[in-house]
Amino acid sequence: MKRTLKQSPKELIRINRYISMCGVASRRKADDLVLEGKVEVNGKVLKDLGAKIDPRRDKVFVDGKQAARVHDYLYLVMNKPKDAITTLNDEKGRTTVMSLVKTKQRVYPIGRLDRNTTGVLLLTNDGEFAHHLMHPKFEIPKSYQVALETPLTPDHAAQLRKGVKLQDGKTAPAEVYIIPHGKGKDVGVTIHEGRNRQVRRMFESLGYEVKKLDRVAYGPVTKEGLSRGEVRSLTRPEIRTLKQMAGMPEEF
Ligand code: URA
Repeated sequence: MKRTLKQSPKELIRINRYISMCGVASRRKADDLVLEGKVEVNGKVLKDLGAKIDPRRDKVFVDGKQAARVHDYLYLVMNKPKDAITTLNDEKGRTTVMSLVKTKQRVYPIGRLDRNTTGVLLLTNDGEFAHHLMHPKFEIPKSYQVALETPLTPDHAAQLRKGVKLQDGKTAPAEVYIIPHGKGKDVGVTIHEGRNRQVRRMFESLGYEVKKLDRVAYGPVTKEGLSRGEVRSLTRPEIRTLKQMAGMPEEF
């Protein structure tokens, strides 16, 4: 691949990353494809695993098919209403969050919210972005407002902060505070994990009944200004911050 002198190395991207960004294969599988001689760049079989390409100019073919980057990735936030479910299809015909998104491209929720949980739900068609955000290693903070049936005791708040034992292991330290004027029943919680029904299970493990659960923030993204069921695009700074938090270098 010939480069002009003007070209900055920043615009180049490693072949395995490019192939994974195109949604063709994971990075590891992409390395295998290179080793198997199935990757061609500008008509030549690529041999070097560490090769970098210019996504704007180089033509990459995998197994004879062109790998094209989806330039128009969508990054959305929804203020999820109650009773919408985050599974892709529901055989019982219940409302899915996808049916509330009116975009031409299909997008997928990043993680899950229970049917009865409301609030911030991110959706995207960028698989790598979703994968990074959900990876426990990056500990993206997620904040919830919890309405309890009975007031939270200071001792239980302290236990939740330290971590409580659940069936799938002890929870990591969480931030927990009682929201003023809520008679001790309204609680703010920030967790850095994303286990299934985690917040409900944390409170249930101490004998509390969760009446309402609302996710108010996912990393830097809040639902401010969005009514229930409404969707907006993430702003560039929000996407940049999320990528930084999730250990994704911004190559473009
Ligand atoms: N924790 C829960 O218990 N439910 C959710 O929907 C999200 C986090």
